[in-house]
Amino acid sequence: MNHTPPVCDYEGSDYRTRFWQNQNRNYEDRVERIALRRLMPSNGGTLVEIGAGFGRLADEYRGYERVALFDYSRSLLREAQERLGDDPKFIYVAGNWYAMPFVAGLFDTIVQVRTLHHAADAPAVFRQLARIARKDGRYILEFANKQNLKAILRYGLRRQEWSPFTLDPVEFAELNFDFHPRWIRRQLETAGFGPGRMLTVSHYRIALLKKLVPTRLLAGLDSLAQLTGNWWQLSPSVFVLNQHPDTAVTAAPDAFFACPACQTPLTEVDGRLPCPNPDCDHIWRVENGLYDFKDEG
Ligand SMILES: C[S@@+](CC[C@H](N)C(=O)[O-])C[C@H]1O[C@@H](n2cnc3c(N)ncnc32)[C@H](O)[C@@H]1O
Repeated sequence: MNHTPPVCDYEGSDYRTRFWQNQNRNYEDRVERIALRRLMPSNGGTLVEIGAGFGRLADEYRGYERVALFDYSRSLLREAQERLGDDPKFIYVAGNWYAMPFVAGLFDTIVQVRTLHHAADAPAVFRQLARIARKDGRYILEFANKQNLKAILRYGLRRQEWSPFTLDPVEFAELNFDFHPRWIRRQLETAGFGPGRMLTVSHYRIALLKKLVPTRLLAGLDSLAQLTGNWWQLSPSVFVLNQHPDTAVTAAPDAFFACPACQTPLTEVDGRLPCPNPDCDHIWRVENGLYDFKDEG
């Protein structure tokens, strides 16, 4: 990689308690799960969640044989480990999505929810994902939609400077981006993915509504509205189902990790993953079940 874009670092963050725990976000959690269940095959071989955080959605992956929870934040992955206990199907991997530590063609299913908005270079993320995508698999991506109803109204009332209709991503706060659905589809195609069905999600993400209307009812209404996603996208969150690139390969059954610096396949030796490439010689760490590709071991 010639340049590494900046990373929104959640190390040591209180994301779970500050954002999810008792924060009146049951509605958002429910509607995201509804969309995920609609698009994601319920079982399969290998799955990776990109930016898995503290493993909020991990129970949705019980039907898979091996699940890699990948995130930049070691502390959030440790929280995931605590939540999920010793279930051997979960593999905790710390690293940067601009240099993914997996062999080519590894994952049947790739899931990415509530994280692309931190990507300063989304096309570079898609290129990495295209490499680790297995032939005939699926990539379920959720992204923050700049062309949402609130942004359109604010723009119309001149309360917002940026236009929700232009295709380029908008950085509305440092390392927080909203994307146009058409731009996202174009970038996915450029990376080789086949973007298909879209679901619009979280239509009723309005504090007063969430207070007044029972969560189940509001989630049910959102579930219906999600089905309009192929025709128009005015919700703050959009899910898109992608076919893996036609050029995707299938990894060898025993191959899993690859050096993020040079992509040479790695083998674990005494709690370490030394890169066998003589021109590279990185040594990656495994500590208490966490595979760490952030620093050299
Ligand atoms: C808003 S949280 C979402 C967590 C989880 N997907 C969820 O919905 O609960 C965003 C996550 O993206 C991760 N992240 C941000 N930049 C990253 C990068 N460059 N590589 C890997 N993970 C990254 C953060 O560490 C954080 O856990």
